[in-house]
Amino acid sequence: MITRDEAFELLKKYNKDEFHIQHALTVEAVMRWYAKELGYEDEKDYWGIVGLLHDIDFELYPDEHCLKAPELLREGGVDEDIIHAVCSHGYGITIGNGVTIDVEPVHEMEKVLFAADELTGLIWAAALMRPSRSTKDMELKSLKKKFKSKGFAAGCSREVIERGATQLGWELDKLLEMTLKAMAESEDMINQEM
Ligand SMILES: [Fe+2]
Repeated sequence: MITRDEAFELLKKYNKDEFHIQHALTVEAVMRWYAKELGYEDEKDYWGIVGLLHDIDFELYPDEHCLKAPELLREGGVDEDIIHAVCSHGYGITIGNGVTIDVEPVHEMEKVLFAADELTGLIWAAALMRPSRSTKDMELKSLKKKFKSKGFAAGCSREVIERGATQLGWELDKLLEMTLKAMAESEDMINQEM
């Protein structure tokens, strides 16, 4: 398997925007947190690398998101199971060029990636509205309010997040609570790396 350092180098080859790097590091950390939490401790590096690489094609090829990724990842020597996981986070989503991604999340890791990815965007947008600009003092109640407020971070699809929870067989609240916790516990580490 590709090492974490190799994966980070590969990500930075195609992503220069700080926002995208931060998002990748956030999803990596959240995936590692979930691996531990859900009893996949020995797979946490693997879950993390999937999180780190999941949006590799988005900065340069937004209209081919999840379609261009296999090519970039194969060139970088990434295994097919990671490529499958990366592509599955677009399942059922119609991308800019009109194609609907049909790679279904199968492994629990893939379902977590699908559910948590879009949600980390919403949580981060909510954090930036706070005086602390942090997730660490954010309460679940306030996140739920932001989730329900359609005008807030309208680009973060509530439908995708809800579908993510359903695919996992979880209540939405469980997904919100766990992902907020994962982000709050990882925030300092991510800031250090930025
Ligand atoms: Fe993402």
